[in-house]
Amino acid sequence: MTELRALPLGVFDSGLGGLTVVRALREALPEESILYLGDTARVPYGTRSAETVVRYALSCAKVLVARGVKAIVVACGTVSAVAIEALRVELDLPVLGVIEPSARAAVERCGGRRIGVLGTPGTVASGAYPRTIVTLSTRAEVVQQAAPLFVPLAEEGWLDGEVPTLAARRYLAPLIASGARVVVLGCTHYPLLAPVIQAEADRLAGEPVAVIDTGAAVAREVGRFLEERGRRAPPGPRGALEVRVTDLPKSFAEVASRFLGEPVHDVRQIDL
Ligand code: DGL
Repeated sequence: MTELRALPLGVFDSGLGGLTVVRALREALPEESILYLGDTARVPYGTRSAETVVRYALSCAKVLVARGVKAIVVACGTVSAVAIEALRVELDLPVLGVIEPSARAAVERCGGRRIGVLGTPGTVASGAYPRTIVTLSTRAEVVQQAAPLFVPLAEEGWLDGEVPTLAARRYLAPLIASGARVVVLGCTHYPLLAPVIQAEADRLAGEPVAVIDTGAAVAREVGRFLEERGRRAPPGPRGALEVRVTDLPKSFAEVASRFLGEPVHDVRQIDL
């Protein structure tokens, strides 16, 4: 039997956004092998009902479990917000999400200032961020804003220029006006638009705003978790990366490598 710690981490998202988490994982934990599943045929999840997101998330997770992974990292804000409990009940292995690590990073950075959360409509409606933040700090105040247009912009690789800038301005204005000076990118697609979001946030606030990317915070907590459980990959060469998607659009390789920060070699389309 393959030793548990030598198994890959299973990581999934509704589409390509989770590759921003994979990028952070590969930077922080280079020996870990990763099996990534992007449900590109059914993206976006963020505008769907909680019941549908739970159903989709279970079908993704089951594919990863069947392939043999040592833990699942839910690299999707929406699934982490509405389906993580269902996954933990149904699956017989550890399931880690993105909400807690990024909420903790925001609380550490906020210094008494209001925290703004940008997320999908599903994540915002679930109240997962305010609920989690209140358990970490009783004083931190949270304001949220759904930013659904960022997802197709990121999937298309339309990352700068007028359209993303105007979308960022529109989504950030209410957060900044309410006093938020820390902004959490509560959807894993959003880090691709981070330069535009950062520039607009600073401009609207007239001072630097702390923009929190979930990837680095998640990678830190996954590393800590694997260490504590004795599941860290043994020292050795860089781990493998396999990417599986449920639809393979023509521009996939180009857009995916932009999310990932390195070329994607092993990509295959699968059915769920
Ligand atoms: N990347 C996903 C998230 O973090 C969702 C995008 C979507 O499918 O709507 O929420």
